[in-house]
Amino acid sequence: MESYYVTTPIYYVNDEPHLGHIYTTIAADVLARYQRMSGRDVFFLTGVDEHGQKVQQAAEARGIEPIELADQVVERYQTLWPDLAISNDDFIRTSSERHKSGVQAMWRRLENAGAIYKDFYEDWYCVPCETYWTETQLKDAERWDNKHCPDCDRAVEKVQEESYFFRLSAYQDRLIDYINAHPDFIAPASRRNEVLRFVESGLNDLSVSRTTFSWGVPVPGDEKHVIYVWIDALTNYLSALGFPDQELPKHWPADVHLIGKDILRFHAIYWPCMLMAADLPLPGRIFAHGWWTVEGEKMSKSKGNALRPADLLAQYDADVIRYFLLREVPFGQDGDFSFTAMKQRYNSELANDVGNLLNRSLAMLNKYRDGVLGEPGDEQGLDRALIADVEGMQRDVAAHMDKQAFHLALERISLVVRHGNRYVEENAPWALAKAGDDARLNTVLYHLVETLRLVALQLLPFMPGKMASMLGQIQGEALQQELSFSAHGGWGLLKAGHQCAKPQPIFPRME
Ligand code: MSP
Repeated sequence: MESYYVTTPIYYVNDEPHLGHIYTTIAADVLARYQRMSGRDVFFLTGVDEHGQKVQQAAEARGIEPIELADQVVERYQTLWPDLAISNDDFIRTSSERHKSGVQAMWRRLENAGAIYKDFYEDWYCVPCETYWTETQLKDAERWDNKHCPDCDRAVEKVQEESYFFRLSAYQDRLIDYINAHPDFIAPASRRNEVLRFVESGLNDLSVSRTTFSWGVPVPGDEKHVIYVWIDALTNYLSALGFPDQELPKHWPADVHLIGKDILRFHAIYWPCMLMAADLPLPGRIFAHGWWTVEGEKMSKSKGNALRPADLLAQYDADVIRYFLLREVPFGQDGDFSFTAMKQRYNSELANDVGNLLNRSLAMLNKYRDGVLGEPGDEQGLDRALIADVEGMQRDVAAHMDKQAFHLALERISLVVRHGNRYVEENAPWALAKAGDDARLNTVLYHLVETLRLVALQLLPFMPGKMASMLGQIQGEALQQELSFSAHGGWGLLKAGHQCAKPQPIFPRME
């Protein structure tokens, strides 16, 4: 079976889960479910990033050990993911032994390849961003006084210490060639160009160890040094698979690393260069999504306005949240979250379109046929157009999912739903019933139910709970088995004589 490996970033444990974290994880989950249904051997990884100065400081501020802080936040993530129907296959913690040995093995590989050397480091460090800046970078930044982080504008600290360096500069040309030869390696295209420009402007070697704090993975053979958090964090994608015990784990390389745009440089520059140095294959794609504002405002810790998953779940079903986040904003672009927009989309696309088509179709089937499908008769133009649209949807959704274009996939499915509602109007089953045209009525009801079933199948990765109940009403308990596009995606699977349930609204209108 062909492997499919999808990852989320590992989330810092000095913050609580918010909208930004659930966004990436939901997107990854939809890909994982879609690929499982496509018959791939999926490995879907998420987890937490526990090390570093920020976490050590956050723990100190609370008077607890870093690991206690990490345990608390891990608990929150691990209870949150099932609430959002996240089907991850593993959860990696960077404090775990399996991860630490993976990181140390990576370090040794880089060292053996001659990609690491020891020197002195004198630079500017932004603690909140965990980023080092050179004088030049600070001068280019907006602030004239040259003492503030170009990213977050907070004060940077001057640091001088003994440090190990990774020869990032040595991989500059290879990386440029690689990006040029693999146009889909970094997505969306605007991000790819951004990375290319950055790499072409010149890469400096990277300081990759610290002696100023201890909460991290020690450098093998030189324990007073802690490995820089990004080398540590990025290696999670391999350590979770059993690296180094399994030299080339079966799911490596990853098919796609989903990340937010703020951590693009780490994933699209540092990580590929590390892998080149370690002589390991590169991931298939790095997809950087945009950022959400909430009701027009940037979420920030200081404002305390971060949108918490619990606040969302108090008002909406997990499936509706999943649908909305992926439908509202083209994946890759920034967007704004608002409860008004969510309610509007819910009412118009889920209640009025999908819910209505399901309810009216099953209601008519029950009214005229006691819920039993009749033998469909000769196909007419309207029927053929509907089937063609359903089959077109399946192809188009597959193409969109290959590009992580969730919004386009959902839009395409919506077209079929609206087509289905139009088909009801055009064929007026109530008139056929009145006229006693049994053959035509059977055909129309059959086409509606098959359309609904195939729409639900496409929506299943997005809304697993709601669609399971929709499919349950249509096809009954057969749902207990694993559904796949190849076994269940063909038109005409339901046979005459099949009994459907009475309609039960899955998307009641919200006032
Ligand atoms: N620990 C690092 C990632 C290491 S991956 C090897 C990290 N963690 S984080 O918890 O700060 O952020 C995780 C993700 O949340 C990032 O992908 C970031 O883009 C995302 N988001 C944080 N705020 C966000 C929004 N407001 N909107 C969308 N995503 C946002 O970075």
